[in-house]
Amino acid sequence: MFEEKAWRRVDDYIGAALISKEEAQEETLAANARAGLPAIDVSPPQGKLLHLLACAIGARRVLEVGTLGGYSTTWLARAVGEGGKVVTFEVDARHAEVARANIAREGMSARVDLRVGPALEMLPRLESERAQPFDLAFIDADKPNNAAYFDYALKLSRPGALIIVDNVVREGAVADPSKTDGGALGARALFDAVAAEGRVEATAVQTVGAKGWDGFLIARVK
Ligand code: SAH
Ligand code: DHB
Ligand code: MG
Repeated sequence: MFEEKAWRRVDDYIGAALISKEEAQEETLAANARAGLPAIDVSPPQGKLLHLLACAIGARRVLEVGTLGGYSTTWLARAVGEGGKVVTFEVDARHAEVARANIAREGMSARVDLRVGPALEMLPRLESERAQPFDLAFIDADKPNNAAYFDYALKLSRPGALIIVDNVVREGAVADPSKTDGGALGARALFDAVAAEGRVEATAVQTVGAKGWDGFLIARVK
């Protein structure tokens, strides 16, 4: 799509204007590329949005599903402050290893509890640990399980918490009935589940930028 170039240019403009070099984590993105990780981290402006939302609600405990190289994890870890915690799940041991090194370089290791394995198998354990509830959840892993992750996030969150889900628009596939891939079906199942869930109020916003045309679903626990 010809617009993609313009979207990227504007993301670069936003980054240059509003995101400092210390915030930008260029070394993390370079390390991810060297390790052959897919470049599907959130964009810098999106990472900063997650950070600002977490700061705005004073989040101290964050749940993340889908770590990849720890780029979004670090944006969130910076928001929770000293003594705060980001519990993040990653199924791929190689991704987790790269993430660990990135998170350490950013000085965030003490704030990040990185757990390696399939999130759906590990979330029940988190539930039984009976730790403090989460203030914010960021769901960004395998899209077909989005509704299931949302259920866990809701179960593990406090009233007033935010649950944010990445990649719910998928170049418009969410609203195109001819699209029946796992991402589109997962996104629709998520919208259905959220619409039927009386304990949250929610919206979704489309985004364009360096990562193409997609969107976030944002729910607030009542
Ligand atoms: N949140 C990251 C990007 C995550 S990409 C960022 O913005 O920087 C999605 C990640 O989810 C990948 O690393 C993938 O390995 C992981 N993933 C896929 N299925 C998973 C599962 N069942 N449990 C945990 N992680 C999973
Ligand atoms: C994919 C996953 C993501 O989390 C993302 O932001 C973009 C793409 C994917 O699996 O294709
Ligand atoms: Mg994503």
